[in-house]
Amino acid sequence: MSDVKYSPGLEGVIGGETAVSTLEDGLRYRGYLIEELAEHATFEEVAHLLLHGELPTMRELQNFRERLAAGAHVPPEIIETLRKIPASASTMDVMRTGCSLLAHWDPDVGDNSREANLRKAERLVAQLPVILAARARLVAGKEPVSPDAHRSWSANLLWMIHRLEPSPRWIKAMDVSAVLYAEHEFNASTFTARVVSSTLADLHCAITAAIGALKGPLHGGANERVLEVLQQVGKASEAEQWVRDALAKKVRIMGFGHRVYKTVDPRAELIKKFCRELAEESGNQEMEQIADTLESVVKGEKKLPPNVDWPSARLYYYMNLPVSLYTPLFVVARVTGWSAHVMEQHANNRLIRPDGIYVGKPARSFVPIEAR
Ligand code: ACO
Repeated sequence: MSDVKYSPGLEGVIGGETAVSTLEDGLRYRGYLIEELAEHATFEEVAHLLLHGELPTMRELQNFRERLAAGAHVPPEIIETLRKIPASASTMDVMRTGCSLLAHWDPDVGDNSREANLRKAERLVAQLPVILAARARLVAGKEPVSPDAHRSWSANLLWMIHRLEPSPRWIKAMDVSAVLYAEHEFNASTFTARVVSSTLADLHCAITAAIGALKGPLHGGANERVLEVLQQVGKASEAEQWVRDALAKKVRIMGFGHRVYKTVDPRAELIKKFCRELAEESGNQEMEQIADTLESVVKGEKKLPPNVDWPSARLYYYMNLPVSLYTPLFVVARVTGWSAHVMEQHANNRLIRPDGIYVGKPARSFVPIEAR
């Protein structure tokens, strides 16, 4: 057995090298602070940065957008399958199945070269929102809306879900949310994608597995639970009592705490401003008051900061998005970061295979079945 120190949950363990992002000196994607990216860049520019390594020039952005538009085609057989999946299935499960199905029609599926991985990743950035929106509409008894090549990624996503012209404010809010959800170093789902790609399995396998990892409530699944919490509280006047009772009962409040951020999650701070604007526009100020009360009590009592999922849930709620889409909205943004990590792993691979500490029965001899 190795004499390396054991750290439950691999906390503090270096899982590998990456040039995609860092949390040292602020959260930076390929060197750029997320604050600057959220303020000035569109999601397409950030997707290009993560996948290709650099922010695009005007010409590169134009070409990238043309490739996304061309890659958004989802085979009709997949849309037909989405119709047949029981309405009770969670949208995260449908995203996982959808990603897996897309592999069967992708011409580059088994090719792990950088060029093929880039083509597949760009297609997924365009196709997964189509699957998300189509499923949302089918479950609501409506027909899917085709992607519109003339709209930006965020505008198109909102258009395909609502079939209503999104306001510039909604488009900016969705862009900021997607930019901030796009990448986050060696989190659980990204690590999953890296483990899968370290066996030299292909990009669709890695992304399908990552979607499964993101679903859990301790990771991306928290943003759907956050809205349940806010709705359970109901009234601003009851928020303080509700949260004090919950903490006394040792309830884990979804949307708080983080393995790495112990004082502040910068992404949560950035999204809050947009929550305020959209709450006012949609007449949801009371939900903001409830959120503020919960935030100050959890910070005061447990010293836990809100994480990115805390404001994201409200942001989506104010844009009339069904709760079942909140974690899938995380997927369609994070596929950029996951893909960048898959390409990095394939480019400089060593099978990821840690050791375990055996805590089972001591060595013993086999007993034939008649003698047991
Ligand atoms: N509410 C109440 N108490 C909490 C919370 C919370 N949300 N999070 C942590 N704690 C408490 C734990 O009970 C524990 O207390 P104790 O020492 O008295 O037993 C202490 O803080 C440490 O908690 P751990 O679970 O050991 O910390 P860890 O680093 O493993 O947890 C995690 C990080 C899983 C994110 C945790 O904070 C949590 O469960 N949060 C709620 C789920 C959530 O919001 N997840 C989204 C994370 S962001 C993302 O994935 C995009």
